[in-house]
Amino acid sequence: MANNGKRGLRRGLTQYGDEGFSLFLRRAFIKAMGYTDDALDRPLIGIADTASDFNACHGSVPRLVDAVKRGVMLAGGLPMAFPTISIHESFAHPTSMLLRNLMAMDTEEMIRAQPMDAVVLIGGCDKTLPAQMMAAASGETPALVLPVGPMLTGHFRGQRLGACTDCRRLWAAYRAGELTEQDIDQANAQLAPGHGTCMVMGTASTMACIAEALGLALPGSAAAPAVSADRLRLAEQTGQRAVAMVRADGPRPRELMTEGALRNAMVTLHAIGGSTNGVVHLAAIAGRLGAALDLHEFDRVGRDTPVLLDLKPSGHGYMEDLHKAGGLMALLARLREQLDLAAPSASGRSLGEEIDAARADDSLGVIRAADNPVSPAGAIAVLDGNLAPDTALIKHAAASPELLRHEGPALVFDSLEDLARRIDDETLAVTAEHVLVLRNAGPKGAPGMPEAGYIPIPRRLARAGVRDMVRLSDARMSGTAYGTIVLHVCPEARVGGPLALVRDGDRIRLDVPARRLELQVDEVELAARRRAWQPPPRTEPQRGYLRLFLDTVEQADKGCDFDFLRPPR
Ligand code: FES
Repeated sequence: MANNGKRGLRRGLTQYGDEGFSLFLRRAFIKAMGYTDDALDRPLIGIADTASDFNACHGSVPRLVDAVKRGVMLAGGLPMAFPTISIHESFAHPTSMLLRNLMAMDTEEMIRAQPMDAVVLIGGCDKTLPAQMMAAASGETPALVLPVGPMLTGHFRGQRLGACTDCRRLWAAYRAGELTEQDIDQANAQLAPGHGTCMVMGTASTMACIAEALGLALPGSAAAPAVSADRLRLAEQTGQRAVAMVRADGPRPRELMTEGALRNAMVTLHAIGGSTNGVVHLAAIAGRLGAALDLHEFDRVGRDTPVLLDLKPSGHGYMEDLHKAGGLMALLARLREQLDLAAPSASGRSLGEEIDAARADDSLGVIRAADNPVSPAGAIAVLDGNLAPDTALIKHAAASPELLRHEGPALVFDSLEDLARRIDDETLAVTAEHVLVLRNAGPKGAPGMPEAGYIPIPRRLARAGVRDMVRLSDARMSGTAYGTIVLHVCPEARVGGPLALVRDGDRIRLDVPARRLELQVDEVELAARRRAWQPPPRTEPQRGYLRLFLDTVEQADKGCDFDFLRPPR
């Protein structure tokens, strides 16, 4: 048993060479908070509180903490909330991805350091659930994930609006001169109308669904709106379930996240039309379990798995619609043959039992039938070729069908700064046939692999009505974005990947059906360019977290985790 079989306050005592004194001291300090001995002898349930004034998505966390506490106490446990880092997409400079691993380390170490018998991890904004699941996977403490839940939709001129697919659509319309300054200001106040995570199938929704598919979150908890009574009931049930897990001595996270559960997560990622970021995070979670996410297997799973969820950005609806339609389990009920139904859930039942209990409401049409999919073959394709020897991804379910096979001349931007400087230059020699290439925006290049892969359409072309072009980079892209955009090109340019060798005018061929991404330059010429290549000069940080990040971060195909955070072989 973990922690030498010790429970509650006896877990992880401070070392003074006198265990009795350590416990005596600990009890003295906790009694300062007014607890009785009866309370302190109960199962102790930690609750990771990620409320922050800088994290609007987590605005409902205080109410969720209260509801989890209620559940813990109803089940006879003692809840102990504690703070961890909280990361919001728009308030993390230079990019939230730079901080995901820091949050994972913080969460893992605070679970280990403090005397809790089980933990409830409350998260939601894009990097928070991945960080918490990575932390849980690295430890032995029974853990449940409680997503904060999605926002309700907003309204603008008779249309439903959702962050942030509609943010991008409206901004593109503004750039093209179709909306005035006043229009865009008015829409801006309606795109994120309250607490909760982005309500399209972006990264936050994707990771909430993955948490549920992996069995780490209770069934129903991916889609219930942040401000709903259902969400509070789920929080209460999560607290109750945490106490039950202590009494049953498990399951522990690695007992839930079996090989079958990881495959279930792959099926889910495709079937929901999930975010490309979900692949990076799933690879990082698998890495913490000592497994490698096989991206070619992920691609094969996609070829057999239709996208059945009609949500933006691939489709039309929003997360509240999925909740009304029966939630993720109602969707997975249509994919039984692809799933490991024996995989365990934190609920104490198997995935198959949870699917049997799900009740679908087809009246909204948000969960499609298998013979009427949003897209017949998965959300994301894994590409290979001389431009991406260690793979690249494309969310083909959100791409323009006519561009899935395309060949065109490269127009290269060497950095984010170069992109910002030139993309709207009226004299830029660019046509709709060009392939826009952004490099040095990967894990080590940017650094932090920002969501810069959604390269804007040059303003001159946007005004002329061009809405999509083939774009590729070693960056990531928001799960709420759409377009024919190749991402996560591995290895990245900064470490000398072939992306570093592309020159303006080189022909690039994208063939998604064949899963190929080719730079049509002969090998002799590429070898000469490789010999002459030098990484772009920059001042490297000498200290601090950024130094650690640059020294140890892995490539996107391995999840961008730090190499030393994987378990030893
Ligand atoms: Fe937090 Fe979208 S910004 S989920």
